[in-house]
Amino acid sequence: MQRVFSGIQPSGIPTLGNYLGAIRNWVPMQDTHESIFCVVDLHAITVWQDPKELAAQTREMAAALIACGLDPHRCILFVQSHVHAHARLAWIFNCVARLGWLNRMTQFKDKAGKDRESASAGLYVYPNLMAADIHAYHAVKVPVGDDQKQHLELANDIAQKFNHDYGVEFFPTIEPMIQTVAARVMSLRDGSKKMSKSDASDQSRINLTDDADTIALKIRRAKTDPEPLPEHVSGFEGRPEARNLVGILAGIGNTTPDAVLREHGGKGFGAFKEVLAEALVAHLSPIQAEMNRLLEDKGALDAALRLGAQRAAAIAEPIVTEAERLVGF
Ligand code: ADP
Ligand code: NA
Repeated sequence: MQRVFSGIQPSGIPTLGNYLGAIRNWVPMQDTHESIFCVVDLHAITVWQDPKELAAQTREMAAALIACGLDPHRCILFVQSHVHAHARLAWIFNCVARLGWLNRMTQFKDKAGKDRESASAGLYVYPNLMAADIHAYHAVKVPVGDDQKQHLELANDIAQKFNHDYGVEFFPTIEPMIQTVAARVMSLRDGSKKMSKSDASDQSRINLTDDADTIALKIRRAKTDPEPLPEHVSGFEGRPEARNLVGILAGIGNTTPDAVLREHGGKGFGAFKEVLAEALVAHLSPIQAEMNRLLEDKGALDAALRLGAQRAAAIAEPIVTEAERLVGF
């Protein structure tokens, strides 16, 4: 079985974007791939995290992943800081990657905003750590949202340069597995920005833990234009908010925007938003119930994460130790 690796930051409550773009697609991989999923707390501190909140959010994220269908016995599920191989390989990659490569990363520009001088150095080298996450396992497939494509290209550049510099074929080429439906869920307030758990405005996203009233309110307030829904996807041209809301319903219902428009094309957004909110509530409420149950059983969750870390380390330790030997350590 091919090995897949993917990570998610405990930098907030998981959003509908994380769910449709990532988590939901990880669930079937447990049966088709050797699957490794990681709550990436090292990545989270590239922007300020309150220590108590970080610890709580790390557990919440793990509970959310299990509630969404990741089974700690059918995949390797763990917390990044529990396996030291990630940080060790990341340092080597900091010395392999070139500044010019990092300068091209659009996510840094988005996340650092206008005041780049005040961004952490960690935020800048974030893609090197992400490359280490994957290469520490010799993983070849990486399921990510479309927002991470550029980082994966960089991970391949790093692997190639490492192999070239040290004269070995050590790190394999990795391939992104990018979902086509709802590959990128956009902010509810601004159709040009992706929905993110770390966005300042809570109104911009649906959190997996939002209750029915909150979901209904956020969807009702979601930005739209005054036109009714188009009859066909070609009508999304210049209408990113309309495209996004239709894409979300398609994602939740496991169908296509075309199919959604066959049913709802021509409707006003008032009516469509009610349908969408109802579908979201129906889909998310069983996940929320399971998440709450898991969070109440602290011992069981911690034991599952400890087991995950042991299984992850068993794979990553020998690989990273060999990389260190190649470097001359
Ligand atoms: P966030 O930006 O919400 O903090 P992460 O960086 O933790 O998200 O990403 C976790 C996973 O979720 C990645 O695979 C990423 O591609 C995916 N993802 C994040 N935001 C979105 C989105 N708006 N639409 C689709 N996928 C997303
Ligand atoms: Na991200």
